[in-house]
Amino acid sequence: MRTARFVLDPAFTVGEVDPRLFGSFVEHLGRCVYTGVFEPGHPSADAEGLRTDVLDLVRELGVTAVRYPGGNFVSGYAWEDSVGPAEERPRRLDPAWRSTETNRFGLAEFIGFVRRIGPGAEPMMAVNLGTRGVAEALALQEYANHPFGTARSDLRIAHGDKDPFGIRLWCLGNEMDGPWQTGHKTAEEYGRLAAETARAMRQIEPGLELVACGSSGQGMATFAAWEATVLEHTYDLVDHISLHAYYEETDGDRDSFLASAVDMESFIENVVATCDHVGARLKSPKRISLSFDEWNVWYQRRPNPHPVEDWQEAPRLLEDVYTVTDAVVLGSLLIALLRHADRVAVACLAQLVNVIAPIMTEPGGPAWRQTTFHPFAQTSRYGRGYVLDVRVDSPAYTTGRYGEADLLHATAVRAEDGSVTVFAVNRSRTEALPLEVALGRTGLTRVVGHSALADADPDAVNSRDDPERVTPHPVEGTTLRDGTLGAVLEPLSWNMIRLA
Ligand code: AHR
Repeated sequence: MRTARFVLDPAFTVGEVDPRLFGSFVEHLGRCVYTGVFEPGHPSADAEGLRTDVLDLVRELGVTAVRYPGGNFVSGYAWEDSVGPAEERPRRLDPAWRSTETNRFGLAEFIGFVRRIGPGAEPMMAVNLGTRGVAEALALQEYANHPFGTARSDLRIAHGDKDPFGIRLWCLGNEMDGPWQTGHKTAEEYGRLAAETARAMRQIEPGLELVACGSSGQGMATFAAWEATVLEHTYDLVDHISLHAYYEETDGDRDSFLASAVDMESFIENVVATCDHVGARLKSPKRISLSFDEWNVWYQRRPNPHPVEDWQEAPRLLEDVYTVTDAVVLGSLLIALLRHADRVAVACLAQLVNVIAPIMTEPGGPAWRQTTFHPFAQTSRYGRGYVLDVRVDSPAYTTGRYGEADLLHATAVRAEDGSVTVFAVNRSRTEALPLEVALGRTGLTRVVGHSALADADPDAVNSRDDPERVTPHPVEGTTLRDGTLGAVLEPLSWNMIRLA
């Protein structure tokens, strides 16, 4: 195999990583909330019913922004149902997932959950622009953020929360381009509604950060035209536009699946081009940034192995079990996000617990890390700082979906103390990939460590009975000599190489 190469130079950076690139998502869907983050009576539950075993894993995962309460769920959400004494809250039908929502976990419980994660975590709240509009968004904002002295802020205080929730980051609806969305709209209808909601919310708090809905996928027939129309209405009123993307292996085409980040990078670049096109037309110096607020591997085409009935409470939905291959793809998607840190300000791994999630739980039982937990946790921990401009010279392979793709997918992040972490994926299923990195003026002299996630069985998974089956392992033999890093990347592997 030919050696893959790139050069690192601290003078050439892509941009600074916004910590919110390591966000996640808690939706009222399946068991993400109930028996996921919240399970009163569980042996590890605290006084509020939050599972502390899950909280420990969430902290280890390094999650920052937490999006809530949906997702498709938000388009039927009435926030008023989710506040006040828990025993008085109404049970409601959730049309999005055909489940029964008890509202036992609501807004205050969510804020409590985010606060318990600790410093670095912040709520990212979505308002319902499917079945509701400006008035309800303002009412929620007043309840959540106004200090005191109005009916709704005083109601929050009467409910036991003296301090405002201080939510800075808001999504204006969810996937409003999707025909499946409750209250689906055309780009014109949504653009007008998003603009008026944003204007009204800013009349109360000018400093909010607002996310307009972009397309729910690059493959949507309205993609790009949707973004352009929505931004024509909202350009001066919002900060971010959303992107959503899910990837899965189809028809046994693993080579294409391994190159999923090719699609993610083109999606980001196409949305950036569309935003800047609108900015140019409006003669605006402002730049819209990207909120990739749903991304993951998701086996949407597979039948649900769990029996589920309509209108069940917390049914087992979307409980994908992730393999080593899925973890390598997820790592590659993280690399794609970092490589665009100049424009991607927020990204949310969808979702956090049980539902297409890095953390799994059993009701009354343990919590454990899926394979995909590991690349996320490593990147969140060591991927903070400035992304260096990495241009790889790599052997390529042929994929059915994306044509020629590089076998090496990589990025590097320089921390404040000058240390650098290289994140790299070898997409070859069969061959190890030699890597050389010229370190030029970085001043790096030492390999702190090289860890890899790879396995003789690319379909290996973690499970309740074998939760540590797949974990990153140390790689020996990685060298730094005469200003050049030398490493060998195992076949089908996710790698983190730390240099000081
Ligand atoms: O994350 C699962 C679902 O995927 C979300 O509810 C929706 O926004 C998207 O289609």
